[in-house]
Amino acid sequence: MDDATRLEFRHVDKLFPARNRRITPVVAVRDVSLKVARGEVVSLIGPSGCGKSTLLNLAAGLDRPNAGMVLVDNKPVTGPNFHVAFMLQNDLLLPWRTILENVNFGQEIQHTKRDVRTRRSNELLARYHLAEFAHHYPHQLSGGMRQRAALARTIVMDPDVLLLDEPFSALDAQTKMILQNDLARVLAEERKTALFITHDISEGIALSDRVLVMSRRPGTIIREIIVDMPDRDHPFRRRSNPRMNAYVVEILNLLGLTHGDGKDMPEVPLEEIGGAQ
Ligand SMILES: Nc1ncnc2c1ncn2[C@@H]1O[C@H](COP(=O)(O)OP(=O)(O)OP(=O)(O)O)[C@@H](O)[C@H]1O
Ligand SMILES: [Mg+2]
Repeated sequence: MDDATRLEFRHVDKLFPARNRRITPVVAVRDVSLKVARGEVVSLIGPSGCGKSTLLNLAAGLDRPNAGMVLVDNKPVTGPNFHVAFMLQNDLLLPWRTILENVNFGQEIQHTKRDVRTRRSNELLARYHLAEFAHHYPHQLSGGMRQRAALARTIVMDPDVLLLDEPFSALDAQTKMILQNDLARVLAEERKTALFITHDISEGIALSDRVLVMSRRPGTIIREIIVDMPDRDHPFRRRSNPRMNAYVVEILNLLGLTHGDGKDMPEVPLEEIGGAQ
């Protein structure tokens, strides 16, 4: 691994035992190798159940591979690491903590001083339009608001590496675009490294340097798409770039969602393609 690589998967397999021992285990991912360089944003796109969250959990140190290795900064991942912050799919805020206390949580683990912690959390809550809800509990918020709070909790930790599992999937279209822009700017300005999972093909292209497309389970990476467009810090602009559509069609083809020429596009919105649950 060279110095520029921050996150690496080397020939990773992950199996989950079946409930009934006589049935063979589920092979979630098979022989996945990928590298994410320092300051790079890479998206994973693939059908539902192909193992995207499994990969993210392995990178976060929440689970171990059955074969191969996952490395952060050239060291095998053996558990959660301070430099790596993750936002899991269907992120669970702690129900007994208020929104402010939830956003404070990671910083408490990092032993950030109380006044710094509260100032930073309040700043982010304001930016994410949650200031009024700082003292509410998660069950008092909508799904989209909870997702914004979970994202604030991840960003406020100021990690070097961010692992984000569908962070915008529960948001309405406008909020989603605003937060995409916000995230893209933070990632670029602070040269963060990120692995980003999405079902939204155009979101993956708009936010990333590269998109890795996965096959159905057992998930493997079938194609690397280098997004050769400027403005990675400005997804609004990327969306109006004429090359955007060609990338979307290429990925639709890889996922088997068109008949080759992209002319007979499915009639469902792109956001819904890819099997969101
Ligand atoms: N803890 C677990 N125990 C047993 N099987 C699991 C576990 N976690 C995931 N799986 C199985 O592994 C496969 C991959 O799951 P994973 O959640 O990684 O998919 P995904 O690509 O994130 O899907 P989605 O797009 O729907 O979120 C699925 O078949 C799933 O049922
Ligand atoms: Mg998932």
